[in-house]
Parts: sequence; C-alpha cells; structure tokens
Amino acid sequence: MITIICPKCKKKHDVDKNRIPQNEKIIARCKACAHRFPIQFTDKVHEKIKKPMPEGNRAARSISVSISKGGVAKTTTAVNLSAGLALSGYKVLLVDTDTQGQDSYMLGINAKAGLTELLTNELSPEEAIVEARKNLWLLAGGKSLAGIKRLIDRKDFGGEMTLADALTPLETQYDYIIIDTSPGWDPLTVNVLFYVKEILIPVSLEVMSLQGLVEFLKSLSSIQKYRNEVSLKYIVPTFHDNRIKHPTKILNKLKELYGKYICNPIRYNVNFPQAPAFGQTIFEFSPGCSGSQDYRELVRRVASDNSLFR
Ligand SMILES: Nc1ncnc2c1ncn2[C@@H]1O[C@H](COP(=O)(O)OP(=O)(O)O)[C@@H](O)[C@H]1O
Ligand SMILES: [Mg+2]
Repeated sequence: MITIICPKCKKKHDVDKNRIPQNEKIIARCKACAHRFPIQFTDKVHEKIKKPMPEGNRAARSISVSISKGGVAKTTTAVNLSAGLALSGYKVLLVDTDTQGQDSYMLGINAKAGLTELLTNELSPEEAIVEARKNLWLLAGGKSLAGIKRLIDRKDFGGEMTLADALTPLETQYDYIIIDTSPGWDPLTVNVLFYVKEILIPVSLEVMSLQGLVEFLKSLSSIQKYRNEVSLKYIVPTFHDNRIKHPTKILNKLKELYGKYICNPIRYNVNFPQAPAFGQTIFEFSPGCSGSQDYRELVRRVASDNSLFR
C-alpha cells in the first residue's frame, strides 16, 4: 500500500501499488473532493527485487561505453542505448560500474543492491539484478564500488578478471550486456576492458575531446596486448550543434581520422538534463525530440537493423 495525498483537499488515500501502472502518467481522482490530478510512479515505489529473470540460450554481445573524460554523455548513452535496445525487443543487462550510481537515478530506480553485492558474492545474480523496464535489467553502481576497487587491488592474482568472472555466466540470459564506466582510469575500468568485446566511445563535440580520445585509445592498446578480443567498435559524437562552427569542425576531423567507427552524432538537446529528474529515459520523457531520434539511430547502428522503430 502507498499513500496518495490529494493536492487540493489534502485527504490521504491508501492505494495498492500493484494496481498503479509504472512509468506512466495517469490521472487520479480524489474520492473526497472529486479533484483530478496527474500522478506518475516510477520503480522507486517498487522496493522488492523483481522477477522473473530472462532465460534461454542467448549469447550476449558485451559493449562498454567508455572514455576517461567525464561529462561526455557516457551514462546518457549507456542508459538510452540500453533502453532503445530493450524497446526493440532485445533482452538487455545494463551494468553501472561508476561509484556515482547515476544509471539507477536516470531510470528512476532505488536499487537496494547491485554490482558490489554480486562481485563480493553476497548476493546471487537474481538478487543483485533489478528489473528496470520490460526487457531491461540493471546491475546498479554506487558508492560501495569504491570498496570493490580496493578488493581488486588486493588480489595477488587475476584481479583484472573479477568482473568477467561474474558477468560471463550471465551471457546466455541476455542479448546485450551494456557497461557504463566511470571517468578516469581505475581497477574497475581495467576490469571492464578485460571483460567486454566491444567498445563504444562517446566524444563530446563541445569540448576539446580529441586528445582524450587519442589518450584512451593508447590505454586501450596497452590492454589489447594481453587481450586481443576487445576492440573499438563505435565512436559516438555527442552534444552536436550544427549552428556552431566549432563542433562541425571537430566532427569532420573525427570522420577524417576514424571514419568507419563514427556513428551519426547525438545532437545537443535540452531534454537530456531534464529527463533524469523524472526517472525517465529520453524515449519516455520526449519520444518525438531530436535526442530520441538520434538514440534510435544509434540503436539501429548497434543492432545492424535498419528496420527498428520504423
Ligand atoms: N546530447 C545532449 N544534449 C544536452 N545535454 C546532454 C546530452 N547528452 C548528455 N547531456 C547532459 O550532459 C550531462 C553529462 O552527461 P553524462 O551522461 O552524465 O556524462 P558522463 O557519464 O560521461 O559523465 C548530463 O547532465 C546529461 O543530461
Ligand atoms: Mg557517467
């Protein structure tokens, strides 16, 4: 049961939360004063870890959204790419490896557990993973991951495989395992690169980010010496504003240097910073905006399926 208070007459109503559709705006009517008012519930009110988990003989593609620079739309891309793939019918596990834990916030989820508990074996995958939307599951990040970095550091042997050991057994359940990474370069980032096979790099066209890209690719090649299964697959230009000359210049330079990896840019859109406050993906918050169109295009590119969302 949850309590809804009428904004007009302040009468409290106890409502069975299972009767309220999640992530959908509905109009409630106060039984006392007949006032109608909009309400919307996200998974925040659904405290229990939900079942069922996906089953089957899948073979997940593992893709990390990575670059050492912060504020370039890694989390925005990881969340919306995952949500778009899920909307297209794929089973997706989104893994947040950042101590900021923003993926949960963006999806409106108050996860009680997540990646930390899975990596420490405190919880089973079924207990640590939260169902965030239809077809979309989340292994939440957060502050507790700081302890995991220390745990990895303390291992004498095989510390870089900690994440791979935990996620590989889950691959048969999902079509995609998408990993959001923290800015910087730390033991968890190294773990991510020792697990995934594909890397997607968001590059902000607003800032001088080419240098950051070159540096990250250098670090990646140092990992590839030990693990050649991991490779750069996509570079996604973000914050594109074609009214301004500077981003277009950076975009052209990127195309010249990394042509085959470059995806269609994600345009600058004011809805991106607003959607997380409602716990909504861009597709839920503003399905018709350019931001939604751009992430749909990215979903088509990643899934190599031009018929999606048509
Ligand atoms: N295309 C875009 N247009 C406008 N703002 C964006 C866009 N993409 C992301 N943002 C905003 O930029 C900020 C940083 O994005 P975020 O995804 O958190 O970056 P990172 O994970 O790389 O640190 C957030 O406030 C986000 O809402
Ligand atoms: Mg982030």
